Amino acid sequence: MAPAVDAEYLKQIEKARRLLRALISSRQCAPIMLRLAWHDAGTYDARTKTGGPNGSIRNESELKHGSNNGLKIAVDLCEEVKAKCPKISYADLYQLAGVVAVEVTGGPSINFVPGRKDSMMSPEEGRLPDAAKGALHLREVFYRMGLSDKDIVALSGGHTLGRAHKDRSGFDGPWTKEPLKFDNSYFVELLKGDSTGLLKLPTDRVLVEDPEFRHYVELYAKDEEAFFKDYAVSHKKLSELGFFAL
Ligand code: HEM
Repeated sequence: MAPAVDAEYLKQIEKARRLLRALISSRQCAPIMLRLAWHDAGTYDARTKTGGPNGSIRNESELKHGSNNGLKIAVDLCEEVKAKCPKISYADLYQLAGVVAVEVTGGPSINFVPGRKDSMMSPEEGRLPDAAKGALHLREVFYRMGLSDKDIVALSGGHTLGRAHKDRSGFDGPWTKEPLKFDNSYFVELLKGDSTGLLKLPTDRVLVEDPEFRHYVELYAKDEEAFFKDYAVSHKKLSELGFFAL
């Protein structure tokens, strides 16, 4: 069971949801908000029950991890909402921002359960995936979180939004032609190969090279509904890693 929250907390969650919708639409910051939610959650280690969606990414030391370059922008944007909804935890706020980012750009509705606790315990650097590595590494990282091959492919579809920035990751450019629209074009472009001029990270490429991953890429490229359904399930899992064990 998720920790219970009171009526006032729920009211502030609904207010934060509205404020986030407005903020994300007007500042066009859905991609970086989704990346913030993912990087707070994606440090989870199921064995030691450490890391995960606990708001620790706001710590200066964790924000300085190489993989979090640029995310201070998203942390600061969330402060505008936190100031107006002081009761809600950073952990809930960041995950709600991820859910709203997907919804306002046309993606699936993701069920959001509040009640995450904040932690100031940042995990050691190196728990998030390295874009320069291959399938073995991707599996090591996502299996450590307790996620599956299907989750890896569905969640990689988050790259339907946004772009890489040379000064942040060393990579450059968007994955799709409309980086502010959440759809299945990431998978369509992946299957087209290199001719499109769009970005493909080594960890994106392995999704078409590995037969187990490719099966889902082909499904999601031809059936957007199947992608949305699986994405919503995988995103909810990611946003709740370690949550029900608290
Ligand atoms: C951006 C790597 C999975 C959402 C990026 C960037 C890299 C990266 C290198 C570029 C950062 C920059 O230069 O600004 C990876 C790797 C993954 C992964 C190796 C392993 C599978 C995910 C997942 C999600 C996600 C699971 C969400 C569900 C995003 C978004 C951006 C992004 C939305 C764009 C941010 C922006 O436009 O500012 N990712 N990512 N990524 N990632 Fe991932």
